[in-house]
Amino acid sequence: MKILVTGGTGYIGSHTVVELQEEGFEVVIIDNLSNSLKEVVDRIEEITGKRPLFEELDLVDARATRDCIKKHHDIVGVIHFAALKAVGESVEKPLQYYHNNIGSLVNLLKALDEFDIRNFVFSSSCTVYGQPKTLPVSEQAPLQQAESPYGNTKKISEDILRDTVNTGKLNTISLRYFNPIGAHSTAKIGELPLGVPDNLVPYITQTAIGKRESLRVFGTDYNTHDGTAIRDYIHVVDLAKAHVVAVNRMLNNATKEPFEVFNLGTGNGFTVLEVIQAFEKVSGKKLIYEFTERRKGDIEKVWADTSFANEELGWKARLGLEEMMNSAWDWELALSKHNKEQ
Ligand code: NAD
Ligand code: WQD
Repeated sequence: MKILVTGGTGYIGSHTVVELQEEGFEVVIIDNLSNSLKEVVDRIEEITGKRPLFEELDLVDARATRDCIKKHHDIVGVIHFAALKAVGESVEKPLQYYHNNIGSLVNLLKALDEFDIRNFVFSSSCTVYGQPKTLPVSEQAPLQQAESPYGNTKKISEDILRDTVNTGKLNTISLRYFNPIGAHSTAKIGELPLGVPDNLVPYITQTAIGKRESLRVFGTDYNTHDGTAIRDYIHVVDLAKAHVVAVNRMLNNATKEPFEVFNLGTGNGFTVLEVIQAFEKVSGKKLIYEFTERRKGDIEKVWADTSFANEELGWKARLGLEEMMNSAWDWELALSKHNKEQ
């Protein structure tokens, strides 16, 4: 059975392609390589022994998208990762984010409708909850005004999907990720931040390897046990496995509603300082860091109520913070070795 994975050479997409292939699915990737490298296809083949099909195209191009879906009309489902995701950049370039993230979703849905492909898994984000009033946050929590155009594209995309599902011709599972980190245990695939990373864990590993001078810890006056902000970090491999579960749920007609939403987190929150400590423990490296002001737009604390995903999907995150940090560090070491050999 063939699954289309858009954004499949990206960070979460590539790990998901690996898990899908290991479960026996055939995969076709669509990616425009705006934030990933074609070599990822080789790495996936090295890990799984199978080469996914690869279509280099921009989903914003409606004609090319339609032609590609026509060519692969035997796909039984789609996982849609392709999107731009840099929060800060989206504030600078909102139209680029709406054009890319909304335009590509609409083009893709139109093509799927034409070729009667009904199973759709969407990459959503815990960013839709903003700062929740109640923790852990469940799927029923009210959504809040997005802090950034990027976050707004996730809210709008969920609305577009809900409306499309109401036509009766599409089933959707929207997966709201908390903070994905870590890399594959082979260290052959992982996150490839272009330029200076925005996110905590790539910043930590780049500081430890000497690419960055020091890490800034944003905010020490949050209402948390050590004053730094809390997030629910989830290992990217656990996250990838949840997508296989979601696809199987649709293929087995086990969905209870045509539009379902699941939180994907571990259910545990860690502060920035706890993440740093876990990194120092597994790497044996002392990290250079300084305390600075809060980062604009950051929320204080969030972690997931995972009971719905655990019970209904039958999926649970297995890997802990140390495994996340260990794999992130192995990945940084592998990248550095690779770059030195170039
Ligand atoms: P990523 O940038 O590594 O992967 C996205 C991929 O989509 C890239 O390979 C990029 O080249 C491709 N792409 C972007 N626009 C495209 C277009 N118009 N046509 C074809 N390909 C296109 O990002 P990721 O971290 O793997 O994120 C995957 C998805 O998960 C995104 O939708 C993101 O918003 C969502 N998400 C990510 C996080 C996170 O922290 N990484 C958290 C919540 C949600
Ligand atoms: C985590 C914590 C920072 C960097 C972002 C998006 C969100 C989602 C996941 C897609 C925060 C602190 C960070 C640094 C630090 N993506 N930090 N020093 O902000 O929770 O979420 O990625 O949907 O939409 O906003 O993740 O990794 O940037 O930050 O102290 O150099 O680490 O303040 O408390 P965030 P992050």
